[in-house]
Amino acid sequence: MTTILVTGGAGYIGSHTTILLIEAGYEVILFDNFSNASKESIKRVEKIVEQNITLIDGNVCSSEDLDTVFTHHSIDAVIHFAGLKAVGESVEKPLKYYENNISGTITLCKSMAKYGCKSIIFSSSATVYGDPHTTPILEDFPLSATNPYGRSKLFVEEILRDTYMADNDWNIILLRYFNPVGAHPSGTIGEDPNDVPNNLMPFIAQTAVGKRAFLSIFGNDYNTKDGTGVRDYIHVMDLAEGHVKALNIIHSLNQVITINLGTGTGYSVLDMVKSFEKASGRTISYKIAPRRTGDIASCFADPHYAKEILNWEAKYDIDAMCEDTWRWQSNNPNGYKAL
Ligand code: UFG
Repeated sequence: MTTILVTGGAGYIGSHTTILLIEAGYEVILFDNFSNASKESIKRVEKIVEQNITLIDGNVCSSEDLDTVFTHHSIDAVIHFAGLKAVGESVEKPLKYYENNISGTITLCKSMAKYGCKSIIFSSSATVYGDPHTTPILEDFPLSATNPYGRSKLFVEEILRDTYMADNDWNIILLRYFNPVGAHPSGTIGEDPNDVPNNLMPFIAQTAVGKRAFLSIFGNDYNTKDGTGVRDYIHVMDLAEGHVKALNIIHSLNQVITINLGTGTGYSVLDMVKSFEKASGRTISYKIAPRRTGDIASCFADPHYAKEILNWEAKYDIDAMCEDTWRWQSNNPNGYKAL
């Protein structure tokens, strides 16, 4: 059986991907330090897949923790989700972000090389395109970043490219996610932000369920169809499937490739509000607020390369994204915390 190490496997995208990996017949070794995830998510994943999952409570910054993994398990490939992702926090605590996201990846890759595992899928982000000169966005567009979180993704991409240049035995897939939303259709696992959500979808969902009084829409004077920001929202199950498809090709790769994972369609903030109202049957109160610093008008993928190289394309539409988010949020108003 092929064994995959999933770092950050208890988190939002990691937990959904773990389900599809197990359903596809992979053995998963899940590695997480639970700094921004809950053990409850794993219990629920185990229920969905009807089997126990090997879980290692460890930190990617610790070579000792990684030694434990590689000495006890024969790992064929790594999917590296572990990392910090709050843009605002990264501006306040850049060293924390560089340490976790960059040093963590370096420590991981050194351990991988030490134990002869040289296949890795890395969670990158559309944030590396900065403010794109046009849309849809192709993989070869110029790269830039406006905050330490974005720079950490950009630097790790470069570090992995250099790693391959120095040793062509590596197989490296950089997946650039657009805006992940939605939840497993069971409604038992989903996104569970620690604090007040920064991202649109969890904020809308918490407003619908009554945890927040209203949504602030950050700007309605962008050069978009209705003035609000446009993004490429992608269902987390589609994203998870993208990782399974990437694993299918990784061992025959012998190169570094970069792939957009998006739907190719942009929706505005107001589109998302309307769709969520339809899915939930609730009214979402909102107020127009000033633009948020660092936001761009429009960001959506050209997803053709993913189709060509991975035979992957997004299947879930905006209605499914909102319905599945609502099922998760309404069944679990406090996320993984007990009521
Ligand atoms: N928005 C609001 N109100 C909110 C939250 C968001 O109006 O309360 C708007 C934003 O202005 C933007 C859109 O909703 O127009 C989406 O915002 P998100 O914060 O959900 O997503 P971003 O596109 O800003 O950022 C996301 C991830 C980043 C990642 C980036 C690019 O949060 O980690 O996509 O991939 F870097």
